[in-house]
Amino acid sequence: MQPLTLTTLLLPLLLPHLTLATVPTTPRFDLTKPSYDLFRHKTLHDDTVQQSFTFDNTNRRLFVAQRRNGADSSLGNLCITQLDFGGSQLGYMHLTGFGHGVAFGAQPSGSSTYLWTEVDANSNGYGTRLARFKFTSGTSLSASSAGVQKFKPVAAATEFTCSVDPVNNRLVVRYHLPGSGKHIAVYTLSAATAGDFSSPLVDFKIPTITTLGGAFQGYTAYGRYLYLLWGDSYDVTGGTVNSQVATVDLNTGLLVQGPTLTKAGETLSFREAEGMAIYKTEGGQTRLFLGFASGIAGDRRSNLFYKNATIA
Ligand SMILES: *[C@@H]1O[C@H](CO)[C@@H](O)[C@H](O)[C@H]1NC(C)=O
Repeated sequence: MQPLTLTTLLLPLLLPHLTLATVPTTPRFDLTKPSYDLFRHKTLHDDTVQQSFTFDNTNRRLFVAQRRNGADSSLGNLCITQLDFGGSQLGYMHLTGFGHGVAFGAQPSGSSTYLWTEVDANSNGYGTRLARFKFTSGTSLSASSAGVQKFKPVAAATEFTCSVDPVNNRLVVRYHLPGSGKHIAVYTLSAATAGDFSSPLVDFKIPTITTLGGAFQGYTAYGRYLYLLWGDSYDVTGGTVNSQVATVDLNTGLLVQGPTLTKAGETLSFREAEGMAIYKTEGGQTRLFLGFASGIAGDRRSNLFYKNATIA
């Protein structure tokens, strides 16, 4: 538990949009420190750019989401490829009518992995609910399949995506509130799995963060901190790096570091920032992963990097 200080007592008065946080302090990644390669130039099952990725930290699995070949992005049709940590393909699933895939999460259940994604894509291809379903390689699901559990964590919100903090077993939900913008709510994975979204650990409007203008490309959380990613491909920027990362304190809803320019994979062709995730190695090292798409249209590749230096 956090000690009750004057600040924690006053915060709800100063920031009335904030549900008082109950997220214990954890180390924070230092965004100014270098990134290391996990892999580069790996193919996914389909040919399009990756959108995001996630780890089942217990069964040590990696999943990458992309738009399905030949499907207009407004349809929300996704392909999820399972890769090993060297980037070789192990399997895939096809999802019809789910969403854009800016983020998703994995939840271990015994030796199975359940995925948490957006679902019920609207006419722009963005999910209007969250879904939870078992990853079963070689199968396809539609938004109305019996194996898909669906949730609407915030009644007034119109679009949802999510990420999982696999170390602390939390579901991090980014939602759009009409007339207000993008918010973050964090739930324990056990409550979310039970369909109980009544007691978020935190729930706040994402602060205005002034970036170089890159598109929003992903987010994740580890313990007390939320990490955000922006950036455009070299095709869009004319070869300039505009990928940036930033850290928000879940306990205050305020920006604590960044946006910081990241040059991870600077020499990649195309290089579009695509996704963030957390993974803790068997050796106990926690990593903040950043993803980038590379390559040419019709043969896009997956590239994953990580930061591991923390600020106490
Ligand atoms: C980060 O990872 C790199 C490469 O795997 C390793 O050499 C380094 O010691 C790690 N640093 C920390 C702080 O864990």
